[in-house]
Amino acid sequence: MSLQLNDVEVEYRGRAGRTVQAVAGVSLEVEPGEVVGLVGESGCGKSSLARVASGLIAPRRGNVLLDGEEIAPLSWRRRPRTELRLQMVFQNPYSSLNPRRRIGSQLADGVPADVPARSRTDRVVEQLERVGLSPDVADRFPHQFSGGQLQRIAIARALVPQPAYLIADEPVTALDASSQVQVVQTLTGLVRELGVGMLFISHDLALVRHIAHRTAVMYLGKVAELAPTDELWSAPAHPYTSALTAAVPRVEVGAGLPEPLTGEVPDPGNAPEGCRFRPRCPRAFEACTTEPLLRITTRPPAAGTGRQAACWLAHDRTPTGASS
Ligand SMILES: Nc1ncnc2c1ncn2[C@@H]1O[C@H](COP(=O)(O)OP(=O)(O)OP(=O)(O)O)[C@@H](O)[C@H]1O
Ligand SMILES: [Mg+2]
Repeated sequence: MSLQLNDVEVEYRGRAGRTVQAVAGVSLEVEPGEVVGLVGESGCGKSSLARVASGLIAPRRGNVLLDGEEIAPLSWRRRPRTELRLQMVFQNPYSSLNPRRRIGSQLADGVPADVPARSRTDRVVEQLERVGLSPDVADRFPHQFSGGQLQRIAIARALVPQPAYLIADEPVTALDASSQVQVVQTLTGLVRELGVGMLFISHDLALVRHIAHRTAVMYLGKVAELAPTDELWSAPAHPYTSALTAAVPRVEVGAGLPEPLTGEVPDPGNAPEGCRFRPRCPRAFEACTTEPLLRITTRPPAAGTGRQAACWLAHDRTPTGASS
């Protein structure tokens, strides 16, 4: 049982027939009851990954399995039960709710057809209460609520079909600090109490560190490192992880300060040859002209821990360098 992405690629056709490879072969798994954090700089492909994982767009290559069953956008309509098992929460709750309809009636849309009419309202009220709102919210319209309340309404709406997995793409980025805390607590509560599996996307590393069991660090369409969150922070195996985590204020004494990240993220339509991080990497060397694949690390600091990194410094080199 899991939400599983296998070597997924996402490509957009830009202007003048130029293609942008936003996701360049990502494999990732989210298990029930698990929070997997996905971090990385703006434009690295996080939202594209979220869209393909939730079936909103089709992968150019690779596939997405929901509890072993492949999902594809074309099959959504024919497989409504599959769709209900996976729900999304977006950054902007205003855009995911219709301003002209009462909250209760919008949420009732998500109640599965086999639920008897007399229980449909109960199902909606139950989810509103779960996210800390009162039942009378159902009779009101979106404009009557603050951003934080609306995001909790959006979460309640995602929960109405009783999904096994949630994909939350920057769910608190647009909210004020106190609403952020409430929404994060709501989401982590669902994982704990309902055993929902959650892919939590954020550029806020400190937040992801706080809530994710495992963290995937994405760079220019690929996963640079994937590790249990604690270990990723205590001993990053990829120089990009070191640089990102170094930019977050630390409380530990003597943590050592890796070199800060300089330069711009390259255009995904024009990714560097070899390791994508090479032009910005303070530790690049000859090997990096060959692309390192994401593999279990065999060298310190993560050797023997089962952690994965796409960096030659984390691997004993194989003669041809390119097998996984
Ligand atoms: N519909 C689209 N058409 C063309 N290019 C796109 C489209 N959507 C995204 N892109 C490009 O794909 C790349 C990845 O974008 P994506 O939105 O997935 O990144 P992101 O990591 O979510 O960024 P952010 O942190 O800013 O939300 C970017 O270069 C972006 O410009
Ligand atoms: Mg995004």
